[in-house]
Amino acid sequence: MGYIKSAALEETGYVVLDRYNKEIDPKEWLDIEYVDWKSSGDTRFAPLASRDGEIECAGFWSGKNPRTDKDGIWIDSQTALAPTLTERALEPGANVGRCRIIELQPNTYADCLYNLHQDDNNRLNPDGTGWVVRGFFNLTDDKDSYFVLRENRTDPSKETRIALPAGAQLIVDTQRLWHAATHPGNDPRYCLITSWTSGPELDAYIEKYNGVNHVDSYEVPQDQLDAGQAEQTRRLAARAAALAARGQAEQTVMSEA
Ligand SMILES: [Fe+2]
Repeated sequence: MGYIKSAALEETGYVVLDRYNKEIDPKEWLDIEYVDWKSSGDTRFAPLASRDGEIECAGFWSGKNPRTDKDGIWIDSQTALAPTLTERALEPGANVGRCRIIELQPNTYADCLYNLHQDDNNRLNPDGTGWVVRGFFNLTDDKDSYFVLRENRTDPSKETRIALPAGAQLIVDTQRLWHAATHPGNDPRYCLITSWTSGPELDAYIEKYNGVNHVDSYEVPQDQLDAGQAEQTRRLAARAAALAARGQAEQTVMSEA
């Protein structure tokens, strides 16, 4: 049967929407409660909606009510402090799974390439229902930062880099595209990430805000791109070697048992 997906995301796996142009009080993301949760770099997360309505970041497929990344439970103590962000997550009218703010400490392009990953947001998603994608609303005005998207983790030829000024809004099929952010500078970056279920509501929202599935990549000098790619290759090889060594060690233990 297959999943219900957005036609707008079919070709490239992402859409960039019109920029959000209203001011939001930074207290909405600074005064809420964060939990340490390492994901794609030095990060913390502040959930607004989570698996059980608790301030935690567990996968929806685990716990007492395992499910795909849908039907997130809003956390009143958090949404009370972040009413505009909550409103923005609810605006499409699509089902919301997890909804949380990421705090990302500064990093480099090489770090970002090493951090590239695909999400697992459709695990347990019933066939014939809406595919879960993620909305990213950049909150801080990170003029030198950009989101990196790749169809293939190690192939730079089709990389797209999306600028992340305050108000940048994009929707990404994060289970399809490898993704992570490059964030130079001194201060953390804050971004609202919401899991939405694809369907007519989300399609109407993409249309309303003039979603485009091609943008010019954020400009980075070629030598910097090449250096980052070389470093990704080096780090991935080092990690593979470390895992292989550990695998060998584990095998030795198993064979002794
Ligand atoms: Fe992700």
